[in-house]
Amino acid sequence: MTGIGHGGDVYAAARKLRRGLHRLVDFSASINPLGPSPAALRTIADAGDLLQHYPDPTCWDLRQALAIHWQRSAEEFLIGNGSTELIHLLPRALQIRHLLVVGPTFSEYAAAMKQCGGHVSMVMAVRAESYRPPLEQVFAPAQGLGKTETDHPPIDAVLLCNPNSPTGYACSAAAVRKLARLVARRGLWFLVDETFAEYCADASIVSQALSARTIVLRSFTKFYGLPGLRVGYAVAKKPIIERIAAHQPPWSVNMLAQRAAEAGLHDVRHARRSLRFMDRERLRLLKKLEQLPGCTVFPSAANFILMELPVRQKVAETVAVLRRHGILIRDCSQVPGLNARSVRVAVRTRADNDRLLHALTAVIRQGGS
Ligand SMILES: Cc1ncc(COP(=O)(O)O)c(C=O)c1O
Repeated sequence: MTGIGHGGDVYAAARKLRRGLHRLVDFSASINPLGPSPAALRTIADAGDLLQHYPDPTCWDLRQALAIHWQRSAEEFLIGNGSTELIHLLPRALQIRHLLVVGPTFSEYAAAMKQCGGHVSMVMAVRAESYRPPLEQVFAPAQGLGKTETDHPPIDAVLLCNPNSPTGYACSAAAVRKLARLVARRGLWFLVDETFAEYCADASIVSQALSARTIVLRSFTKFYGLPGLRVGYAVAKKPIIERIAAHQPPWSVNMLAQRAAEAGLHDVRHARRSLRFMDRERLRLLKKLEQLPGCTVFPSAANFILMELPVRQKVAETVAVLRRHGILIRDCSQVPGLNARSVRVAVRTRADNDRLLHALTAVIRQGGS
């Protein structure tokens, strides 16, 4: 864990507030508000017998299902214990010593590099451009790959989160592919975290031809609503997949997770319903948040919204007040590259979002206390 931590720690909140999980509304992790596919839930309920065996270490069926889903070979997929396991495997498996990250972004990339003694450099999107990832700066003479540092090994990998968390910005697939080509030409690894990409399929490169050095990460946590099961996957050419797999502990992904992920992937109806709901509700919430006095809201391609509280409103206090009301939001004031007024809220059900809006309105009216 890094100093900034993660959203979604409902267990710690429940212990601290001495209330049951069901009395918390978690806007700090961005999970499909319609929940997992009903078919995935049925699969889990019926899968008790599988617990008497070790899980399939190759995740064969899920990889076959993903191969059909993305029209790729099953050998191009590696399933992980959440994409987090894969984020931690990559530096070791690919011997990445210096990672260039396009920020501000998810803290786990830096945490993974730190754990294996590696180094991280960043090119930062800026607020004035609504946090558009500055892909052109990756190759700028004085920045990114152009920067000459003597006390660190040369940059050997570039990471882009698309759509990005916590800013919500999605680069086009064409822009990502162009960056992939340029990065590959330099002989570097290119890592694309597409954990939220189900919400903006046009921005994804996962169904396209991947260069020999590109690795795409996806997850069943967010859109498929299965954070507690821990399933994610990497997509890359077969030799890279084999290399990463060689570093993975056996039986990382349990059988309920494998089966539920497969059922979720097949449930096209739930997927369509989830996307339709998100398109509508994100826009409604965004407009309402914009109307809160002194708040700034950034458009998002995913199922969360980055916003800034009014100038004199203290983020830590606001988060604490909401928490006492059982409402958890993500304090982003410490995320490198964001300002001290930044918070991220998930788009949840209409009723939950109204509860958040009501509570935020009251807290802002009182100035944070
Ligand atoms: C951008 C991003 N990538 C990856 C992850 C990890 O997801 P998981 O390990 O649940 O697949 C998260 C979780 O918050 C995330 O926000």
